Amino acid sequence: MIDIIGLISSAHNNQREKIALGVEYSSMFGPTYEKSNVTTVNFNKVIKYLSENLLVHFKQEEILIDLIEENVDTTAEEQRVMSKILRKHKELRIGFKKLNEVISRDDLDYEMIREFSEKSRRLLNDLFQHAREEDETFYPFVREKLTTENLLLLEARIKK
Ligand SMILES: [Fe+2]
Ligand SMILES: [Fe+2]
Repeated sequence: MIDIIGLISSAHNNQREKIALGVEYSSMFGPTYEKSNVTTVNFNKVIKYLSENLLVHFKQEEILIDLIEENVDTTAEEQRVMSKILRKHKELRIGFKKLNEVISRDDLDYEMIREFSEKSRRLLNDLFQHAREEDETFYPFVREKLTTENLLLLEARIKK
């Protein structure tokens, strides 16, 4: 049997790596913004990678949360943790969507660049905190509470 929980949560390692790169690039934007500039290209690649990664990862976590809600007895605190995750996913999805829209524009001026690099750093930091919080408050009880039967069901739903 594969370690399906490990598989889902291991996406955080990739995310952390890309977040660090994204933060570094975003601090390198100067007063002139050129789409062909190496920093811009690298930054855009990181954001694109993360956006695609999150689409899949959040979906998997939401399948997991649905399954827990249907099959596992949870405490009020555990329910609070899961509601917070769902809220945060929504917020982060919107954040990345907006950032992608800004990135694809051609008419950014200095003020917009400053705002956009600051906002992107905040967004990346938010994602970093989110993954850390899940590692600390969500995955420990998931690992403890899910039965083999739950895990097999999860595997089947994720593969679909
Ligand atoms: Fe998440
Ligand atoms: Fe996660």
